[in-house]
Amino acid sequence: MILKIIVIILILINLCGAYKILLVFPVPGRSHAILGEGYVRHLLNDGHEVTYITPITMKNSHPKLRQIDVSTNFELMPTDILFNIKTVLYNERNLKDFKFLLYVTTEFANGTINHPNVQRLIEDPREKFDVVIAEWLYSELYAGFSSVFNCPLIWSSSMEPDSMVLDLIDEALNPAYNPHHLSDILPPFSFFDRVNELWTLIDTKMFKWRLRHRENRMFTTAFESSVTKRGRRLPPFNEVRYNGSLMLGNSHIASGAAVRLPRNYVQIGGYHINEIIDPLPTNLQNIMEDAKNGLIYFSMGSILKSRSIPTEIKKELLTLFSKLNQTVLWKFEEELPDLPKNVHIVPWAPQLGILAHPNCELFITHGGLLSILESLHFGIPVIGIPIYGDQHLNINRVVEKGFGKRVDLNNEIATQMDIAIKEILNEPRTVE
Ligand SMILES: *[C@@H]1O[C@H](CO)[C@@H](O)[C@H](O)[C@H]1NC(C)=O
Ligand SMILES: *[C@@H]1O[C@H](CO)[C@@H](O)[C@H](O)[C@H]1NC(C)=O
Repeated sequence: MILKIIVIILILINLCGAYKILLVFPVPGRSHAILGEGYVRHLLNDGHEVTYITPITMKNSHPKLRQIDVSTNFELMPTDILFNIKTVLYNERNLKDFKFLLYVTTEFANGTINHPNVQRLIEDPREKFDVVIAEWLYSELYAGFSSVFNCPLIWSSSMEPDSMVLDLIDEALNPAYNPHHLSDILPPFSFFDRVNELWTLIDTKMFKWRLRHRENRMFTTAFESSVTKRGRRLPPFNEVRYNGSLMLGNSHIASGAAVRLPRNYVQIGGYHINEIIDPLPTNLQNIMEDAKNGLIYFSMGSILKSRSIPTEIKKELLTLFSKLNQTVLWKFEEELPDLPKNVHIVPWAPQLGILAHPNCELFITHGGLLSILESLHFGIPVIGIPIYGDQHLNINRVVEKGFGKRVDLNNEIATQMDIAIKEILNEPRTVE
């Protein structure tokens, strides 16, 4: 009897092992929100209490979920102005310019930590957390939350392991055979590539170093008073910056490269994919069911607006699609005139439901890591049109691994796309 009681008490103690978690995912973009919501879902399922800093609040409430709304972040980082198809096509801005990215994202992080709702949270000395999980996007300022709440810091990285993130918990990767995440090359590198990669690493460090006074000032301004209120002294930013205890990476060996990882980097790529896929809305379900010759799903993600594709290219793509036996489902924000019978336009698409459908045969994507991981999960080959960020690297790896093709965004796109679609659909590869 006594033994039974002890066992029951032990089980109860075990069940009570829930934490209060501060989840910081402030980047205004659908894909970043998907990553954040993945954490929310898993943590709530495990019984933890979650405070979620987000620009896109979740609709379903939960007794253990509190959301801190930072939706004004959409004004701080106007992603659709930064990343649009015309800027790429006409080389208006070099999207590989990481100094520009570093600068913008540091300003952005500063805006987030000074947001009135965030300041209200940290200035209240009654607020306590057991751990902070923060999404790293070129800035480490969020590390200050762990100083405020005197708790461990967990980084979440949205890309494949790379020098910039590993540097925070371990050390940079060897640039002789590990490409920077904005590079458009894969090893083996030429001598010039190796020099270039080494220079990128040094240049990034130097630029970060030049930002140091600015960052220190931002860090102190945002966090000093709330740390002082709790009777402690704010440690120097450079010590907090490298003090992350763990890094959870939205990466997977199936989509990335085999690199030497420290034990506190844990790959959790694919965690955002829900085990239960929501049923499709009736109109989409009908389109999917009617696609007897298979369906091609075309989506450039949530940040890139298809409307910024030049009219000429849209026309050529439509002509190409009209010649296919397959049905084409194009996620596009506006109606197009003269739509071929086999092309359907939807302004919004539940991507998981579409990829999960047995009639889906091919996914044309910008090559964001979430889309790549989803296509791997559902076994759908891809055609990648990389635009910005790590998309070139992701697609190059897809091609290397053999589950897709790459087509570049230029005036030849329709011709290249035609070849790629035929190769993928008509030349089935056997799995070796
Ligand atoms: C670093 O993290 C540990 C563990 O969370 C903590 O005890 C320590 O105070 C932190 N140091 C700094 C400088 O933030
Ligand atoms: C379309 O389907 C027809 C009949 O099944 C077939 O003969 C034709 O080759 C197909 N066309 C393409 C482009 O696959």
